[in-house]
Amino acid sequence: MRIQSTVALVTGANRGIGREIVSALVAAGAAKVYAAARDVARLAETVAIAPDRVVPLALDVADRQAVAALATAVPDLRLLVNNAGVLDFGSALDMAPEAIERNFTVNFYGPLLTTRALAPVIAGNGGGAVVNIASVVALASMPALAGYNASKAALWSLSQSQRGSLAPLGIAVHTVFPGPVDTDMAAEITFPKTSPADVARAIVEGIESGRDDIFPDPMSASVYEAWRADHKAIERQFAAV
Ligand SMILES: NC(=O)c1ccc[n+]([C@@H]2O[C@H](COP(=O)([O-])OP(=O)(O)OC[C@H]3O[C@@H](n4cnc5c(N)ncnc54)[C@H](OP(=O)(O)O)[C@@H]3O)[C@@H](O)[C@H]2O)c1
Repeated sequence: MRIQSTVALVTGANRGIGREIVSALVAAGAAKVYAAARDVARLAETVAIAPDRVVPLALDVADRQAVAALATAVPDLRLLVNNAGVLDFGSALDMAPEAIERNFTVNFYGPLLTTRALAPVIAGNGGGAVVNIASVVALASMPALAGYNASKAALWSLSQSQRGSLAPLGIAVHTVFPGPVDTDMAAEITFPKTSPADVARAIVEGIESGRDDIFPDPMSASVYEAWRADHKAIERQFAAV
């Protein structure tokens, strides 16, 4: 879809990749971007990107009542970016079930229920797109991130289900598989990281190009090529991390 003149909503827009996606959407000509965050007081820097076009919105994607009531707040929506995410460390042997649940609540049920609440709005406005920010660990697991891997793999699966269900409503679904990005979430990760601004620009370019699966940085693009050639080799490589 074209970003020019469209109306978008980005969850988790107060920092990191989310804030840069707001910036990239504004740069691409979006008419309005709803910047959603748990705490609207932390959206000042995001709104300052374009105070006439960026609209702050309170949204905790784990608050199911708030998510279900979202449609009335964004009646002109065409593009939903499910970006909000959490990452908890822990292996399959020791990770607390509560931490695994938290990863699924935000990373899987968040996009599932937000999309469910807003798809009728997007369809009513003539169609548009949903973007799910997954991760390269959806393709193959890093053992120290057992709950996160699983939540992102589930989100990839969900994206495929949504693509089939939303196509008749004129809504495209894009899945994004970033590698390490230089944000708070990746602070403890020592791999080379791509800037969130570069990743955000690649995501917007992928939406405009109509690509189902978006690999928005050099690491994710090369992992995808290697995974296509031999997915077990990538599984072994990630297992050794
Ligand atoms: N950084 C990476 O290396 C990397 C790689 C692959 C994929 N990703 C994915 O990219 C997305 C953005 O991550 P990031 O790197 O920008 O991380 P980040 O800097 O930690 O930002 C995470 C964002 O999600 C928000 N959030 C967390 N829980 C929320 C909830 N319940 N409701 C609403 N918002 C919530 C945070 O809000 P608060 O400020 O209120 O906590 C924050 O705005 C995530 O889905 C992440 O999994 C990141």
